[in-house]
Amino acid sequence: MTETLLRGRLLTFHREPADGNDTDAFTYIEDGALLLRDGLIAKSGTFADIAAQAPLAPITDHRPHLMMAGFIDTHIHFPQVQVIASWGAQLLDWLNNYTFPEETRFADEDHCALMASAFFDQLVAHGTTTAVAYCSVHKASVEAFFAEATRRKMRMLGGKVLMDRNAPDGLRDTPQTGYDDSKALIERWHGKGRNGYTVTPRFAITSTPEQMEMAQALVAEHADCHVQTHLSENHDEIAYTATLYPQARDYLDIYESYGLLGPKTLLGHAIHLTPREIDALAATGSHPVFCPTSNLFLGSGLFDNAGLRARGIRNGIATDVGAGTSYSMLQTLNEGYKVLQLQGQSLHPLQAFHWATRGNAAVLGMEDRIGTLDPGTEADVIILNARATGAMALRTDRATTLAEELFVLQMMGDDRAIEEVYVSGKPSKAQRPRQKLADS
Ligand code: GUN
Ligand code: ZN
Repeated sequence: MTETLLRGRLLTFHREPADGNDTDAFTYIEDGALLLRDGLIAKSGTFADIAAQAPLAPITDHRPHLMMAGFIDTHIHFPQVQVIASWGAQLLDWLNNYTFPEETRFADEDHCALMASAFFDQLVAHGTTTAVAYCSVHKASVEAFFAEATRRKMRMLGGKVLMDRNAPDGLRDTPQTGYDDSKALIERWHGKGRNGYTVTPRFAITSTPEQMEMAQALVAEHADCHVQTHLSENHDEIAYTATLYPQARDYLDIYESYGLLGPKTLLGHAIHLTPREIDALAATGSHPVFCPTSNLFLGSGLFDNAGLRARGIRNGIATDVGAGTSYSMLQTLNEGYKVLQLQGQSLHPLQAFHWATRGNAAVLGMEDRIGTLDPGTEADVIILNARATGAMALRTDRATTLAEELFVLQMMGDDRAIEEVYVSGKPSKAQRPRQKLADS
């Protein structure tokens, strides 16, 4: 048995705060403690209570910093670690000019292993303890992804992209190989340790109807796997998609008609939707995923969070690296705030921090395991410092409430504000500076 007692200012959510005054939605303890035991949170409460119950546990004192559940990123591309910040294009050109050529490099196992290690270092450095990732078309990229997640004991979701057309040589599978590889990867990794396989048809443009049928079979045969794809990100994408599936009523209808929608389905972007598509999202319980830094970077458009929520739809929020411009969920909340501002919608900091933790966990149906500091859940904990930079310290000096302090973190924070990250109860923030990668 390994036990650690963390001391600090404890913040955890029980549900989404209705507004800034909804104090029943969360627990905040000024002198709080978490007892971590064997990868789980054994106890959570005031330091006085918890220390009395575990007098022998070694104490790590994180005061005056905040302790929260680790961030959850519900849409990110593992093979795009060296695509982030590629200049000057909207979605389809960006994919063809930068992203697809880069992803062809993941045919090489050694490259996959090197990049997986670098990718997970970045996640942890930014306080992200769970992510839902697109790997490349190559089986080797998924092997490297789950091997690294397993080594670090991180709760990770991901899968091989299915793509059998409209992509360069070396980056296409076939309906049969895509099915067979996915099947083998599910057998090997799904439900092993903290790993969850995600069936991943990239988007309708890169999958033939025959491949969509195979994706449908995979989803039907593995109802406990998540499903992820992209939806209505960009006007040119939508127009091209309509020519490829002329019988479909709209973009979402393609995924709907192949049985891909449901509460385990994550739909990246979902910006330009018709009323019928919104009805279908609501009826199937599928989850749009808001990717603000990406949507601004590619000039894709503004996600209508309030409009979808008004229909009872639960949205995720995510970085979408490498079209997204930061691994930081704090920076994602920052840009998310601004995207909503442009539409007269609001995002209170308490709602924002709920979203990046318990909210995204609920989108994945995993809030009983991750996203809170509740006893019995997995010990993925981050330590946040609202005075991480001089500019943040100056502003935090004038903050008089928790919400104000959180808003400084939301607007100004990044990896520098992440003091420590506990993954399965183990301190894990990568301290070492990034080495030059051997093959880059
Ligand atoms: N649509 C299909 N593939 C991608 C991708 O890799 N990134 C983004 N932002 N959109 C996509
Ligand atoms: Zn994406």
